[in-house]
Amino acid sequence: MRCSDLVRIFTADGVEVQALQGLTLSVDSGELVAIVGASGSGKSTLLGILSGLDKPTAGSVTVAGRDLLALSSRERVDYRRRTVGFVWQQTSRNLLGYLTARENLALAMSLARTPDRERRSADLLELLEVAHCADRTPSEMSGGEQQRVAIAVGLANEPRVLLADEPTGELDEATSAEVLEAMRGVNRELGVTTLIVTHDPTVSDHVARTVQIRDGRTATEVLRRTGVTAEGDEHMVAEEYAVLDRVGRLQLPQEYLTSLGMRERVRLALESDHVGVWPHVQQTQEEAADDER
Ligand SMILES: Nc1ncnc2c1ncn2[C@@H]1O[C@H](COP(=O)(O)OP(=O)(O)OP(=O)(O)O)[C@@H](O)[C@H]1O
Ligand SMILES: [Mg+2]
Repeated sequence: MRCSDLVRIFTADGVEVQALQGLTLSVDSGELVAIVGASGSGKSTLLGILSGLDKPTAGSVTVAGRDLLALSSRERVDYRRRTVGFVWQQTSRNLLGYLTARENLALAMSLARTPDRERRSADLLELLEVAHCADRTPSEMSGGEQQRVAIAVGLANEPRVLLADEPTGELDEATSAEVLEAMRGVNRELGVTTLIVTHDPTVSDHVARTVQIRDGRTATEVLRRTGVTAEGDEHMVAEEYAVLDRVGRLQLPQEYLTSLGMRERVRLALESDHVGVWPHVQQTQEEAADDER
């Protein structure tokens, strides 16, 4: 997935809302990425665009080699059926309530004319550890089981990309962890590129890459990897990165700005292997004098 300078402006009652303000994000094939960010930061807007339901006002977006702005309406339907799978927050929105798990899967596959439906359906329910729910309707399953069946339905037509918008929003902590683990499992087993939007602060325990969205832009990223100490012990290392866009803009985390009193301008210096950033001292002294007066 390649999103470059994505802008999405909504107009409601003559008022413009800039839900995405030049968002840039690249996700490689087979990656598992969590998207976090405050309410209203643009997460669902981004997923709506990636799923082919919505179009950006400006910018470019390519998924699995397809330019989403250049799709005809017929190609768009095909894209939504075969290239992406989707899991929503509301358990009731993912599955048809009057059909069993097996029938929900069969319906998704018949719409896309996916072959070998019976076997594929059994395999997916097995992979998500909900084979026992095959002949139950959603009201006969727990919330976690419904979401795992929903993931199976999302994967029914062998999509290249699985998108999930708050898939654990309605679940308790323990069940959330199971659903996140299930998503990590399918990412690993099937190699499907997976994007999970979540408010769940424990998500970083389950994924190697967490991208934070702030005000419609990607702000920081946390990458986790296994490090090895001098004694040979393995441990997790989490490193925070700022996202650098095409023209060199980056956003410093708010807590850095506050702790060093940085505002309006900072002093920059290019060193041999890094860039130094200092608060603009003269200005802060003047302000201190102002404050005393
Ligand atoms: N259809 C729409 N019409 C007008 N404004 C919209 C529309 N959809 C989203 N917005 C606005 O765009 C901004 C981003 O919304 P979005 O739903 O992407 O946020 P979010 O990060 O998913 O938030 P949450 O965590 O609460 O789900 C918000 O200010 C929202 O009010
Ligand atoms: Mg949302």
